[in-house]
Amino acid sequence: MARIIGGLTTSHIPAVGNAIHKGLQDDPYWEPFFRAYPPIRDWLGRHKPDVAINIYNDHGLGFFLDKMPTFAIGAAHEYVNEDEGWGIPQLDPFPGDPRLSWHIIESMVADEFDITSCQELPVDHGFVVPMQLFWPGAPHNADMPRTVPISANTVQHPIPTLGRALKFGRALRKAILSWPDDIKVVVLGTGGLSHQLDGERAGFINREFDRYCMDKIVDDPDELTSIGRMELVEKAGAQGTEFLMWMMMRGALGAKVVARSTNYHIPISNTGAGTMLLECTE
Ligand code: DHB
Ligand code: FE
Repeated sequence: MARIIGGLTTSHIPAVGNAIHKGLQDDPYWEPFFRAYPPIRDWLGRHKPDVAINIYNDHGLGFFLDKMPTFAIGAAHEYVNEDEGWGIPQLDPFPGDPRLSWHIIESMVADEFDITSCQELPVDHGFVVPMQLFWPGAPHNADMPRTVPISANTVQHPIPTLGRALKFGRALRKAILSWPDDIKVVVLGTGGLSHQLDGERAGFINREFDRYCMDKIVDDPDELTSIGRMELVEKAGAQGTEFLMWMMMRGALGAKVVARSTNYHIPISNTGAGTMLLECTE
């Protein structure tokens, strides 16, 4: 039977992809961000998950404003990374797990989540930057797991509520735990924390709100569901809605988790960067 061993969160700032490419991990500007990852990589090295469910938000590469699924799940043999114009080197394709993907899609639809299933899905920085942070050299890292990408809409309003995101994660948990193969699964929630890249509030970061979210996501994610969508935009910035990914991830982990590693750093680019390792206890 499949087991969920933990959840990982990280920002997916494109400039991080460039810093990795240029080997700037020990540079004084970058070090307080990159220091979050070695302890998590040690944990991954000890537990060696077989599959990474990567919950991210597509930013206009896989989907665009003309067609924007609320929840999409990849069901491909591999996922191709493409040039988005950020100047990050394009990575080789990431291996999928289509049998597991279809099982998850079946289970989610049976649970009344209306899923867009994607037999082809180009993956953007929201997916690949976190994979590089957790599995350096990805996709050419010997320990890198097979992947199932899940994208939720944070781009085109109306976006899902935080409550819906948490329920999605809980249904995802049920889907994974009903998979008969004896595999270990880790769930990534990528994006956030507070940031706004455009408009009058460009550069907006809310340290207090980020800290509150990082605190509550561990023991009381349900409290966060009382935050409305427009309130989320107001408090976290227009792109801080990416916190929805963290809620989806958290729902998949079960009732009780232990925070094994936590890091928060600003400024990296325009974003409050939160990194967490939440270990499952059930
Ligand atoms: C940045 C952050 C993001 O989440 C993103 O998708 C693009 C850019 C940034 O802070 O530069
Ligand atoms: Fe983003």
